[in-house]
Amino acid sequence: MAHADEHEPGTGTRRDFIYYATAGAGAVIAGAAIWPLVNQMNPSADVQALSSIRVDLSGVAEGTQLTVLFQGKPVFIRNRTAGEIEAANGVDVASLPDPLSQNENIDVSAPATDANRALPPFGAEGDVDSPWLVMWGVCTHLGCVPLGEQGDFGGWFCPCHGSHYDTAGRIRRGPAPLNLPIPLVEFVDETTIQLG
Ligand code: FES
Repeated sequence: MAHADEHEPGTGTRRDFIYYATAGAGAVIAGAAIWPLVNQMNPSADVQALSSIRVDLSGVAEGTQLTVLFQGKPVFIRNRTAGEIEAANGVDVASLPDPLSQNENIDVSAPATDANRALPPFGAEGDVDSPWLVMWGVCTHLGCVPLGEQGDFGGWFCPCHGSHYDTAGRIRRGPAPLNLPIPLVEFVDETTIQLG
């Protein structure tokens, strides 16, 4: 008998948080809002100044997501369940619409395995399963902000034109051509990451 428990992708309690990186960069994130492309092309001076920020993840429980604004765009930070990691690992990378990691911390053209997309925990060495997934929260189709814990693959769903991303943020179905890209990011201590 199937149990709908928190270890199955897409069935966790929906508890998304929005964190305001700075007052200057703050903006309400609407699920289906078009993220203005002009923001990416012509960042204002105060946004450009945010070359890096640190984010405390100690309050991000398993199965929940924190959204921060960084350089004028949303970044999703998800503490995934074991079930979400297992689902991501169960995918044949060669079958993916975009088989590349899109992770600039390693090699964007490395295979889009879960280990190549997840953020290793502080001090981790080698390939380890990590619950942490940090991605730009901007759909690679036309720039909407996808919704978490939705879609056919238990990851993110972009309601603008129906793109489904899996629990590793990889595009699985719909018009989006690429996986959600991974920004420059690393753990600087057990519970703090630095973006940029
Ligand atoms: S902008 Fe996301 S599917 Fe079109």
